Amino acid sequence: MTLNINNQDHTFEADANMPLLWVLRDLLEMTGTKYACGIGQCGACTVLVDGKAARSCSIPITSALGKKITTIEHSEPNSLLRSLKDAWVENDTPQCGYCQSGQIMNALALLKQNPNPTEEEIELGMRGNICRCGTYPRIKKSIQLVIQKNKKL
Ligand code: FES
Repeated sequence: MTLNINNQDHTFEADANMPLLWVLRDLLEMTGTKYACGIGQCGACTVLVDGKAARSCSIPITSALGKKITTIEHSEPNSLLRSLKDAWVENDTPQCGYCQSGQIMNALALLKQNPNPTEEEIELGMRGNICRCGTYPRIKKSIQLVIQKNKKL
């Protein structure tokens, strides 16, 4: 099977029902995407599938074939993902860090859909991503920093 991940085709052998998260972590060694609840409820495993946030622990490979998958490892200079990563660093956003790649990927999907969300829209858009360390205020601040910087461009 072949999946397009971060604009590169990756070919591997796997059971068709294997969740995308297992492909990323175990077969392709892209361990930035995290396993947490395993039932699509917490958001730690969030990636983008065709630009939309998706829970990779709950997507079988067959549902991802032919689609563009973006993970936290994607490195593109001057991209929205790069800006989010920089804002996360600037605001010292993570605590333990476990949820944060999922938070960033969900924020990326949010800003792709709505480049200028209100505070309430950010809270609503990020609501499904759980942070046990309670870094929600810093996550919101980091998203707002990206929005402010984009306005100045
Ligand atoms: Fe620890 Fe979010 S930073 S779970």
